[in-house]
Amino acid sequence: MRPLVATVDLAAIRHNYALAKRCASGRRAFAVVKANAYGHGIREVVTALREEADGFAVACLEEAAEVRALHGTARILLLEGCFEPAEYLIAAQLGLDVAIQGAEQAEALLAATLSRPLNVWLKLDSGMHRLGFGAREVRDWHARLQGAAQVAELNLISHFACADESGHPLTAQQLETYRSLADLSFAQRTLANSAAILSLPQAHMDWVRPGIMLYGATPFLDRSAGALGLQPAMTLTAQLIAVREVPVGESVGYGATWRASRPARIGTVSCGYADGYPRHAPAGTPVVVRGQRAPLAGRVSMDMLAVDLTDLPEARVGDPVELWGAQLPIDEIAQACGTIGYELLTKVTQRVPRRYR
Ligand SMILES: Cc1ncc(COP(=O)(O)O)c(C=O)c1O
Repeated sequence: MRPLVATVDLAAIRHNYALAKRCASGRRAFAVVKANAYGHGIREVVTALREEADGFAVACLEEAAEVRALHGTARILLLEGCFEPAEYLIAAQLGLDVAIQGAEQAEALLAATLSRPLNVWLKLDSGMHRLGFGAREVRDWHARLQGAAQVAELNLISHFACADESGHPLTAQQLETYRSLADLSFAQRTLANSAAILSLPQAHMDWVRPGIMLYGATPFLDRSAGALGLQPAMTLTAQLIAVREVPVGESVGYGATWRASRPARIGTVSCGYADGYPRHAPAGTPVVVRGQRAPLAGRVSMDMLAVDLTDLPEARVGDPVELWGAQLPIDEIAQACGTIGYELLTKVTQRVPRRYR
């Protein structure tokens, strides 16, 4: 069997959910489990949070149906709402909460004949300009949807664009726009993602929506997951499948982009870009072997990558190699690769088996 596995620590996810709840004390929390629970396995994560989660948030009906099959009563929020009118019928059958982010969605809801009314979350575009209504339009739709036969609870949702950058002026602006609707009667309100849960108590409202923090990665550029008290959920572990001596001046890997500047010991590791490890990871990006860091040498291949083991003479074929996880924060790898933990986690491919602890 190919020695590569993503080990998922479900206790860490429970710990991180509890931390979100402590930060937003007295509030309820939708555990965001879209995109296969950020790559961790939606089934296992929903099952692990079954008792403690107040609800789950997903990106589409297919994900919602998966959650409903595991949990008969949880609130499940469709963050982008229904993509076509027929989906409202299924949403009603499944008993979902749906966002309404545009006029077409709202009209389709009002035209639908549903088996039961839905909890509706009117989406305010408070400044991100991706989805939702402007504040004035929210007032109009509030008037039309309040009391409609298709609507059970009428709620308010919005989303921050820059809560991950502390003190960003857009965040205060978004909060002010959100608050400008304080006079409208909504049953429930939600605004905060992980960054706002951890840093903006004034945004906590009735429900929070933790995503990345559940998985133990930081939403911030300048604050580490460890410093926030988060525990990493996924550890990606491969193995040294070959070790060789490379003389000074010889190159390693595709494109011969890395050359030995001293007699080098090069290890070949069973993980590549077809597993979701970023191909553009630069030479020097660390892995952990025998509790010590070793730098990538040369380009990442489809199924393998190379590391410089010259300073780790005891490393042997068969040694485990951690690409990120318990010993090596995923955020460090993300930063080295010019991306974010979210992208690395969600891109771990199907062929990498997940093991659960
Ligand atoms: C609408 C919405 N709410 C909440 C989240 C969770 O955000 P985070 O993972 O930053 O906590 C997301 C994630 O993209 C989202 O799109």
